[in-house]
Amino acid sequence: MLKNGLSGESQKPLPIPALLGDQDPSPNKAEFFLTAQQSTKEFIEGKMTPTYGYNGDFLGPVIRVKRGNDVTVHVENKLQEQTTVHWHGLEVDGEFDGGPHTAINEGDIWSPNFKIDQPAATLWFHPHLLHETGEQVYKGLAGLFYIEDDVSEKLPLPNEYGVNDIPLIIQDRKFTSDGEMNYDLGMHDVMMGLQGTAILVNGAINPFLEVPKGKVRLRILNGSNARVYNFHLSTQDDFWQIASDGGLLEKPVQLNNVVLGAAERAEIIVDFSEYDQGDTLFLNEENNNLLEFRINGEENNFDIPNQLTDIERISPDSATNTRKFVFQGMGLMVNINGKQMDIDRIDEKLLKNTTEIWEVSNDSGMGMMGMDGGGMAHPFHAHGVQFQILDRNGQEPPENERGWKDTFLVYPNETVRAIATFDHEGIFMYHCHILEHEDAGMMGQFQVN
Ligand code: C2O
Ligand code: CU
Ligand code: CU
Repeated sequence: MLKNGLSGESQKPLPIPALLGDQDPSPNKAEFFLTAQQSTKEFIEGKMTPTYGYNGDFLGPVIRVKRGNDVTVHVENKLQEQTTVHWHGLEVDGEFDGGPHTAINEGDIWSPNFKIDQPAATLWFHPHLLHETGEQVYKGLAGLFYIEDDVSEKLPLPNEYGVNDIPLIIQDRKFTSDGEMNYDLGMHDVMMGLQGTAILVNGAINPFLEVPKGKVRLRILNGSNARVYNFHLSTQDDFWQIASDGGLLEKPVQLNNVVLGAAERAEIIVDFSEYDQGDTLFLNEENNNLLEFRINGEENNFDIPNQLTDIERISPDSATNTRKFVFQGMGLMVNINGKQMDIDRIDEKLLKNTTEIWEVSNDSGMGMMGMDGGGMAHPFHAHGVQFQILDRNGQEPPENERGWKDTFLVYPNETVRAIATFDHEGIFMYHCHILEHEDAGMMGQFQVN
């Protein structure tokens, strides 16, 4: 078993990112301060790795807000280069979205302000500088953004942060013998996106987590640049997925494994009540142990509710337009609809408050199966909006994809139809969330007004 590619690392407790304090005392407002900075971190014993982080050495704190809040975030750039902060999954106007148009110069502060008007969800934030997203995220710039609402707060779900409600940011990295995480792309990385040899959970290799003998909620973000994971428990036990990218599913979905492409999230509930105190098991992906669970602590007794929320289905009849997006090409030639990203070109124009069907297909593997980069899945993502997946190659999507989605995998020779209502105005990106593909140009711009 590849022990995360690095044998002999002693186990450390899973780092739990801090919850970022709200500096605004008024009840319906929230104000946060984030600083993008350079640092170092000891991932491997005795080796200091140069890193980037928000308010710390690697990754960032969790920003938690409530639906209805008026939120301001002050983002200070203390890096030696430009950056941006994009709120992935957040439904806000383009000027606050943090895409490539809102670069923050060295030493500057950017203070977007927005109202939270979408259901409880586990979102995230990361840089989005043109052609530089992959490298900045790789060095450590990413954090979680939680939305709670009256529905999520009333449900009897584990919600004690860091105790039975655990953030898990999964990322793969390659370390040199000096412990550096150099962002050097080999040919294979250019084709497939960067693939690491070690898998970090919240920035730690081979961590362990003490869990109560009961139900635990794991909020999993695939924060990797490119890799697709197939998560399961080492016991092969079932678990329940309760939320997808954009919020709660209507009903918990019982599963044995869950696949997440880059940038996708899943909230799952694992039941540890059948284990004895002191027992251990792992969260795995394929044959890799990512995180060891040690049963130790109070018993809890949550019953997973049968009904989580109501999701009003957007009727395909309400769509005024169907747009087609085709992933094509390989390596540095990756593109959408035959075009590579051009910051001076708007690719798609939409009218505000209209509903559209986006039909995304993947022709990138045509005739090249078996070659590197041929026949690979690309995760499609669009900013400022949450979709409902209508179908995959004409078939109803799996039950855990029947909630809100801002990112979805499109497999070779597959067509995914998704529907959304575009309520926010401005310029937004759509792209493949394999960051090396995005940076190479597998991205376009849509304007809503
Ligand atoms: Cu995760 Cu264009 O974003
Ligand atoms: Cu995004
Ligand atoms: Cu791609």
